[in-house]
Amino acid sequence: MTGMDNIILTGFMGSGKSTVAIRLSYKMKMVLEDTDRRIEKEQEQSIGEIFTRQGEEAFRNMETDCLKSMLEEPEGRILSVGGGIPVREENRRILKQLGMVVYLRIRPDTVYERLKDDTTRPLLQGRGQRERIALLMEERSPHYESLADFIVDVDEQQMEEVLHLIDEAYQAWREEKESAERTQNNEDTCD
Ligand code: S3P
Repeated sequence: MTGMDNIILTGFMGSGKSTVAIRLSYKMKMVLEDTDRRIEKEQEQSIGEIFTRQGEEAFRNMETDCLKSMLEEPEGRILSVGGGIPVREENRRILKQLGMVVYLRIRPDTVYERLKDDTTRPLLQGRGQRERIALLMEERSPHYESLADFIVDVDEQQMEEVLHLIDEAYQAWREEKESAERTQNNEDTCD
């Protein structure tokens, strides 16, 4: 069985997943889902409140549940997923099933510049932000990279170019997927 047909946007906090997702959903006329927004809506609390009241582990379980439910939903969507999701092996397996995984790769310095005054990311509050970003990035980069079907370096790219690259990659990915499905069907009929 082949996987589902969605575009999944992954990457570190501040890499621009949410903005790219909105713009891409207009450009490609695809419905958009965002795991953070969905969890906030379901829990009727902000991510910050969930971390404070229930703790990070509870939030991570909500993320996994959210991904699992996406497996049961219609495809053809853009799924923007929280920056910590690819850390869990189980999540990586689900993301692979959900569709084409795009990694918006960004340098730690750019993240710092973008998020130094942000108050909505619990993992980046308090002192030592620069070091925390560098450490988390080092820890997570191998997961983001091994998971990705397509990587875009976003630091110096114009938004239009980022959208164009993802669009192109998606068309190529779909052709490959369809061809693999045709081969599979032929093999099944020949058996
Ligand atoms: C997190 C990233 C956040 C949000 C939460 C934890 C992480 O989402 O899920 O604050 O662990 O990297 P964004 O990547 O959309 O900022």
